[in-house]
Amino acid sequence: MKILKEQIMNEGKVLSDTVLKVDSFLNHQIDPQLMKEIGEEFANRFSNEVITKILTIESSGIAPATMLGLTIGAPVVFARKRKSLTLSGNLYSSKVHSFTKNETNEISVSKDFLTPDDNVLIVDDFLANGEAVKGLLDIAEQSGAMVVGVGIVIEKGFQTGGQILREQGIRVESLARIKSLANRQVEFYDTEDA
Ligand code: G4P
Ligand code: NA
Ligand code: NA
Repeated sequence: MKILKEQIMNEGKVLSDTVLKVDSFLNHQIDPQLMKEIGEEFANRFSNEVITKILTIESSGIAPATMLGLTIGAPVVFARKRKSLTLSGNLYSSKVHSFTKNETNEISVSKDFLTPDDNVLIVDDFLANGEAVKGLLDIAEQSGAMVVGVGIVIEKGFQTGGQILREQGIRVESLARIKSLANRQVEFYDTEDA
């Protein structure tokens, strides 16, 4: 997705060989116009699928997921990372290990919002090792819903998540795929629009 890649080039900060900071439009400040176009791009890529629900994880998955939901007219459910007072019992939950933070967290979704009748598209901001997506897939599976695919804003293709998911036969669509962050430079896989 050309404008996304341009924004990454113009505003992204490469913090190390593995970490890209995009706080000015995705992870802290949010660019609504870009999010709208991201939602439309996901809708186009998955236009052959019936999607009844979008499943993401707080916090940074919510903005792109919501713009997709607005575009296709489907509700958005976000997995919570912390137990809320009103969210008790009646939950699907899964353990998610973060390699970056070296901690394991439980994520959960109310059983009220995912059912065996749902066709789910999973959306997230970043794909690194794929642990968050694995947790969301686990939750979808527990609910009996069908997963039609995974939509990712920025995939770090040099980490293992994308390969692992695709090898499982899961359709993964990434709007920007990064090949390398070496030498403080962002290098994408495709020179053309991807
Ligand atoms: P994984 O799910 O693919 O295995 O990734 P990992 O545990 O390494 O990621 C932990 C958090 O860091 C996730 O957000 C993930 O989206 C984010 N992340 C991973 N790599 C990068 C990166 O290079 N740049 C940025 N900006 N984020 C990255 P989170 O902690 O759940 O935070 P949030 O969704 O509340 O923002
Ligand atoms: Na995230
Ligand atoms: Na994040």
